[in-house]
Amino acid sequence: MSTTYQLLDGKACSKAVLERIAKGAMEVKKKRGRPPHLAAVLVGDDPASQTYVASKVKACEGVGFQSTLLRRPADVTEGDLLELVASLNADASLDGFIVQLPLPKQIDEERVTLAIAPGKDVDGFHPQNLGRMMLGLPGYLPATPSGILELLKHHEVPTEGKHCVVVGRSNIVGTPMAVLMSRNANPGNCTVTVAHSRTRDLRAITRQADILIVAIGKANFIGEDMVKDEAVVVDVGIHRLEDPTRKNGFRLCGDVDFDRVAPKCSWITPVPGGVGPMTVTSLLLNTLKAAGG
Ligand code: GUN
Repeated sequence: MSTTYQLLDGKACSKAVLERIAKGAMEVKKKRGRPPHLAAVLVGDDPASQTYVASKVKACEGVGFQSTLLRRPADVTEGDLLELVASLNADASLDGFIVQLPLPKQIDEERVTLAIAPGKDVDGFHPQNLGRMMLGLPGYLPATPSGILELLKHHEVPTEGKHCVVVGRSNIVGTPMAVLMSRNANPGNCTVTVAHSRTRDLRAITRQADILIVAIGKANFIGEDMVKDEAVVVDVGIHRLEDPTRKNGFRLCGDVDFDRVAPKCSWITPVPGGVGPMTVTSLLLNTLKAAGG
């Protein structure tokens, strides 16, 4: 059993990418007279969504982008939100925008996602962008899977010919991740298995993974008995666990029981500081691209 794992360090990797983005932003400003501009729509006051959107806005400041936060109350109608999306689609001062998910129950997320102009869909959630990804055509990649690719590339983790198991099949993480890891590219060229809530004997499958990517949304769900020696483990989950010994009363953990699993791994992402920073960075990369940078 290995005890000398290495960290897939999202903070260090995102710092390197953010420096590139900041340079790109300066070039866009020189060329077009204004920096790249991202808008974020936040509906309601879900604390996690507020934190995520705040970190996106802050990241824009850090690289010299302009950002606009548009808030709407939790009881906004679907019609009003669709009108806002239409106005953002038509706003030439914006390069891209996101509508933070989840949305309140009265709103059909799919309808809102479909209403976003694909050219401004820097989240990469529109079917046109997901379809282009499937076909290997240029477009906007969803931020979390794209950030994971960047993280693997930055640390020069070999992926070709490996068995990659993705746990979770969401439209924004698991499914696109599986497509990207099987592409003829680097990172990529994996043999991919997608496991999910209905998978029988999940442990037997995850134990076969050379690369295990977990996006299941359950705190500390993956234990050491589910991971093979020397595996590469990427943890997309982030959860708050109550912890009275901490000043703020909680600590963060992922979908993977890090303390038990890490000693078996060759590489593993920490939580926080692994996938999280890369997701924001990928959103900024898409925005830079949308601005012509
Ligand atoms: N909710 C959870 N992750 C995301 C994301 O990447 N983008 C948006 N818009 N909402 C999310």
